Amino acid sequence: MKKYLAVLLVAVLAVPAFAASDDPIGACIYKYDDTFMTNVRRAMIAEAEKTDQDLDVVDSQNRQPLQNDQVDTHISKGVKALIINPVDRTAAEPIMNKAKAEDLPIVFINREPYAEVMQAYDKIWYVGAKAEESGTQSGQIIVDYFKKNPKADRNGDGKIQYIMIRGEQGHQDAVLRTEYSTQAMRLGGFEIVELGSDTANWDKVQATDKMKGFISAVGIDNIEAVLANNDDMALGAIEALKAEGYNLGDPAKYIPVVGVDATAPALEAMSKGEMLGTVLNDADNQGYAAVRIAAVASEGKPVTEESIHYVITDGKYVWIPYRPVTAENYKEFMK
Ligand code: GAL
Ligand code: CA
Repeated sequence: MKKYLAVLLVAVLAVPAFAASDDPIGACIYKYDDTFMTNVRRAMIAEAEKTDQDLDVVDSQNRQPLQNDQVDTHISKGVKALIINPVDRTAAEPIMNKAKAEDLPIVFINREPYAEVMQAYDKIWYVGAKAEESGTQSGQIIVDYFKKNPKADRNGDGKIQYIMIRGEQGHQDAVLRTEYSTQAMRLGGFEIVELGSDTANWDKVQATDKMKGFISAVGIDNIEAVLANNDDMALGAIEALKAEGYNLGDPAKYIPVVGVDATAPALEAMSKGEMLGTVLNDADNQGYAAVRIAAVASEGKPVTEESIHYVITDGKYVWIPYRPVTAENYKEFMK
């Protein structure tokens, strides 16, 4: 008996303190039923497989209390790092505190914690994209279209009459894309008139409903452009336009619609001439970067541009650039 105990002790003591462990990285995605986040999740899984990491990822089903429990479960299972896409960005603080109490590296993605939360722990990172950029780029696509196609100003008043379909209330991407896309139209030299603006929570079906409501409220003849904070909602709005005989190929019945994300269905709609443009929200690089940070940090190594191969700002932020996607270049983004 004594002999076995001794062998066991030696075995336990022999585990080197800093070896890359076989423990999983624990991840939570705010909900699986989200086109863009599904692409990010796929990229995370691909990077984990490529680098031989065990990634344990779960669906938080758009419920913050469920996600909080999932974080506890990950921690009790002994994960070596966390990657969290919060349901509610204001819930990042208690989650950060759970990680901090265990000295676990934590990478937030897609929903940016407030700066105070980011400053309150030395093993916290954020991977995302600058929403301002996507707003500016999508507004610019509309500006370019109106400059090239004077008839897009259907009532000839020199102003752009538009509908705005916003993402989730309080989400930095919804707030900033809305603000910067309208600013880009103004800076592009157009007076703008908002005929309607509402949230459709990133969701295609909700966007169709909202767009149908706007069409009956203001009349389809008066709408000159539709800006949506993401592609699913742009596609939802297009469904409502198609139901009125618009965006089906007749150039006299076309309203330019722009989104953000460059998802496969949006690129497909562009190829059919139903949708004017979008902005690449680079799911692949966001997913890869998150997994690399988690892996490097869990080995106790410094997270730097050299170790993760992404530019890192203020030691904590990885910003993946957006890119405008138009008729000229959309094919490049089709997989
Ligand atoms: C945005 C994306 C949306 C939605 C949202 C979820 O960056 O453009 O389509 O996925 O994140 O938080
Ligand atoms: Ca006009």
